[in-house]
Amino acid sequence: MKKVIFPGTFDPPTLGHLDIIKKAACLFDHVYVAIGNNISKSQTAFSSDARMQLLKTITKTIPNVEVVIFQGLLIDFAKQLDVQIILKAVRNATDIDYENLQAQLNRQMGGVETLFMFSEEKFRLISSTLVKEIAKYNKRLIAFVPSEIEEAVFKHLFIQFHKDD
Ligand code: PNS
Repeated sequence: MKKVIFPGTFDPPTLGHLDIIKKAACLFDHVYVAIGNNISKSQTAFSSDARMQLLKTITKTIPNVEVVIFQGLLIDFAKQLDVQIILKAVRNATDIDYENLQAQLNRQMGGVETLFMFSEEKFRLISSTLVKEIAKYNKRLIAFVPSEIEEAVFKHLFIQFHKDD
């Protein structure tokens, strides 16, 4: 069985993430969407459980997708799941440079290869960071996150950013 792991912070999941998940589900027998912690992003807007719920909602019609949460190093988790391929989404040259380094480290530390995938062009500008910024200024997110979660994501972010106003 060909398995792949698609790790990310998913804070929150976007249409770009969903596009990659759908493509991966066509190419692999099983796709683990793995929610992890990025050391450079100290505080997330959504808890890991909330991110898991959002990802489960947007992938519920894709039977070979499983959403999981991991702590620690990605390479250790991939080994634990017996997965040989990491999937990373890239949008531009900056992403490629950064992910190339991570890929080298994961190859060196565990012999696991990283596959890079571009999302559709229309999703290339979208990032979780941008989504957070837009919600903060009271603009709806329908062009950026899947419709099933748009209201929940918008409300959560708007309230969070304005709770001390
Ligand atoms: O969506 P992101 O923020 O680009 O996801 C980054 C993530 C969570 C995939 C990455 O930070 C990660 O793999 N974290 C776990 C710790 C780890 O293995 N770091 C990489 C060492 S090579």
